[in-house]
Amino acid sequence: MTDLTLDTTNRREFMKAVVAVGGTAALSACVGRFGQTDVPTGVDDPATLPEGQHLWDDFLATDGHGNVSNARHHVLRFLTYPKGRPSNTDRTIVATALETLERAYEWSNEGLLFTVGYSPAYFDRFDAGPRGVDLPAPKSLADFEDPKLDTYDAVVHLASDNADVVVEAEEALFGNRDTVNGLTVETRLTDVFEAPSEYPARRTGFVGEGLPAKFAEEVPDVPTDAVPEESPLFMGFKSGFAKNQASENRVTITEGPFAGGTTQHVSALDLNLKPWYTQDDQWQRIAKMFAPTHADDELVAGVGTNLGATAKMDETLAPMAAAEQFGVVGHSQKMVSARRDDSPVILRRDFDTTDGGNAGLHFLAVQETIEEFVRTRTAMNGTEIAEKTAVGQRLNNGILQYLTTRRRGNYLLPPRSHRALPVADP
Ligand code: HEM
Repeated sequence: MTDLTLDTTNRREFMKAVVAVGGTAALSACVGRFGQTDVPTGVDDPATLPEGQHLWDDFLATDGHGNVSNARHHVLRFLTYPKGRPSNTDRTIVATALETLERAYEWSNEGLLFTVGYSPAYFDRFDAGPRGVDLPAPKSLADFEDPKLDTYDAVVHLASDNADVVVEAEEALFGNRDTVNGLTVETRLTDVFEAPSEYPARRTGFVGEGLPAKFAEEVPDVPTDAVPEESPLFMGFKSGFAKNQASENRVTITEGPFAGGTTQHVSALDLNLKPWYTQDDQWQRIAKMFAPTHADDELVAGVGTNLGATAKMDETLAPMAAAEQFGVVGHSQKMVSARRDDSPVILRRDFDTTDGGNAGLHFLAVQETIEEFVRTRTAMNGTEIAEKTAVGQRLNNGILQYLTTRRRGNYLLPPRSHRALPVADP
């Protein structure tokens, strides 16, 4: 990562806070404090970048086992397009704003990665939904959840290992910056979109070693020193093993005018970490996150980095058998039933948050169809297991007991060539 130059430790601490806080004041504070950083610049011709906005894997860092590491800092901005059908003028404004970022920053974890997606509400202004893509409105996905269903028109996801890049890019799109990494800002998304800067229209987050432990200090209800320093996520384990992620190829739409794009689900979850860290012990945490036999067989050391590139789901029982034998079933273990051809169908790019003053997780995933997300999330409910075994609807049923879903939204991430205010049938 490029948290570099000057007094690295202080700078890193400070930048974490900036992304969580965000906004112009925070940004000028950091420029004043640390001066310009040496961020790699982007391409002369944005058309040379991959057609799929979501094709990030080749541009992110990998760990020693070949697992792709998600970028460490994230901002989501949810937008409303106040007019009916978009004009070509507005389309050019959006295209210019986005291309400026691609010229300004290297398309990578050290520069900037981003996507822009459009919701079913956006496509309502056309005679039909996006051609060739089933893009349903979001809905509740369990009897025990009651999320708010987002109806924004669009969402922009900004990601980088470098927190000040995320904040700068955000200011370029939605604020008052005149330049971005040395380039002139010609147009802004706020020229055409309404973009409130408060939660839930603005969401922030982080993932990666050190960050959850640090941010845990800022939220109540997380016991002091409970989150291991090495953990990339609040719940104390590594996630996103190569074997347990869908490939980008699998999640890419293959036919129709939106071929090359993908769909995105974005939910906001609250985490209830107090019982997770105080009532449960490490055996129970491993059992509930992975599988009870993983706990018995001591397969997971520490945060699970020892697992390499796989959560070793082929070394455990079927979920029903685990529930019958142990009275507890693992989250990861349950999700295996949603696989196709021995591969998960969703590609998770989730990250933790302290939005709203609570520990939480922005669960963001891309998949070819929203239906695949729904099917995967439904598998997580373990309904049949709860009906037939001592496992409860949420208790001892993976990690359901610790999650509360606040919001859900569905989006189409069009291929890059259609990402600026697309029509339904480009
Ligand atoms: C705080 C929330 C969550 C945490 C900490 C978490 C963590 C994990 C962990 C540690 C694994 C093991 C393997 C790996 O990550 O590569 C896993 C697997 C998985 N999780 Fe989650 N998860 C969370 C929520 C969700 C949600 C909301 C979904 C939505 C459906 C989900 C879907 C999956 C899938 C599809 C797999 C891979 C299963 C397979 O290998 O086939 N997770 N998760």
